[in-house]
Amino acid sequence: MKKQKSIAKLMSTDGLQHAGYLAVAKTRAKVLKVFSHVIPIRRPMLFVGETSCEALCDMLISEGNTNVFIVTDSVLTKLGIPAKVTDYLDAKNISYKLYDGVTPDPTFKVIEEGLRQSLEAECDSIIAIGGGSVIDAAKMIAMSQGNDCQPKKLIGILKARKPSVPLYCVPTTAGTGSEATLGAVVSDDTTHQKSLSIDPRIVPLAAAIDPVIMKGMPAHITADTGIDVLTHALEAWMSANASVETDYYAASAVKSVMHYLPLAYKDGSDLKAREEMGIAAHYGGIAFNKAGLGYVHAIAHQLGAYYSIPHGRANAIVLPYVLDVNRDASKKRLASLAKKTGMIKEGQTIGSDSNITDNFITQVRDLIKTLNINPTVKGMKTSDFDSIAKAAAKEVSDTYAVPTYLSASEIKEILMKIKQVSDEQVDQAKNSDKVA
Ligand SMILES: [Fe+2]
Repeated sequence: MKKQKSIAKLMSTDGLQHAGYLAVAKTRAKVLKVFSHVIPIRRPMLFVGETSCEALCDMLISEGNTNVFIVTDSVLTKLGIPAKVTDYLDAKNISYKLYDGVTPDPTFKVIEEGLRQSLEAECDSIIAIGGGSVIDAAKMIAMSQGNDCQPKKLIGILKARKPSVPLYCVPTTAGTGSEATLGAVVSDDTTHQKSLSIDPRIVPLAAAIDPVIMKGMPAHITADTGIDVLTHALEAWMSANASVETDYYAASAVKSVMHYLPLAYKDGSDLKAREEMGIAAHYGGIAFNKAGLGYVHAIAHQLGAYYSIPHGRANAIVLPYVLDVNRDASKKRLASLAKKTGMIKEGQTIGSDSNITDNFITQVRDLIKTLNINPTVKGMKTSDFDSIAKAAAKEVSDTYAVPTYLSASEIKEILMKIKQVSDEQVDQAKNSDKVA
């Protein structure tokens, strides 16, 4: 059956190209596997709990730092979120300079301005307080300052020659896990095209998972970012480059998300749920740092670029369809994950891998429904599908080790399903407006 499918692919219109694509993609995946084994990746020191911010500051101070550059965004400043850190630094007589100019998907200009201000204030260390965009910006500022160069020089793999300025992170969302990873994404100021810097020197020294900081996160952001965590863990689990180590972190993250995300969504002040989601995000970051991601992210990144869908929500929209297409190739792995994480529905007799996997995918769909994630992709056009499919396929072949490679037509089928659901939502909304 499998053989028949690959022959059918070769005979399809994009089949011949697909065969060449497969060879390149699989070779790159093997190179990535060697890279992840040969290059040592540091782990940040992890502080967890309601006083973890303070413990993180104590570590910074004990290492001799006296003048901190705090990187955040203006929304968090308005909400007073950095105060938990700045009040503590004030009490300890540590000086700091606050930069809240980070925007979503930070550009080179945003990072260059941060670097300029940090140098001007002669800061010796950096604390990032924010979501993935803030942490990525802080990583780039820290590495540029440490290497005495402009951020653009650090785009690519292993570009740094010297260590970063000591970097400490306080994530405010439980999503990207950026505080654990060796990458940072920067957008071009004009084209908004994203570039990546990958270097073990970019990994922060420490991170604080502080549920008090996270409790103000609105429910819809809790939902979107929580599904980002689940997607990191699932794509790392299904990756051809998964290992015993990445499996441990991926399975732990999946188990926590399935249990605690609905609780954190329902009651944002549930500190236990917030803390567990923060740890899950960190573990998801550790898992995909080595095992990589897959088609969910590859397609979701395009939905973000073309239609401005927030990253986590885009993942939630794409995830069920990619699980469906991976079902046959990954059923053994997904069934073993379901058993490991206790995701066998109550009363379900343990059946075949296929049954367990189908049940697992249904539970993921149910979770997304429970979180009321809006599946609408405004402005989605079939005329964009060719270029979206091409970009997603390129991202996969350049960066990931997926369990099964999709042809352009298969990616477009997923896009068509997403569009159908989105159109139905728009129609339903119009009809309910008329009734009202
Ligand atoms: Fe992600």
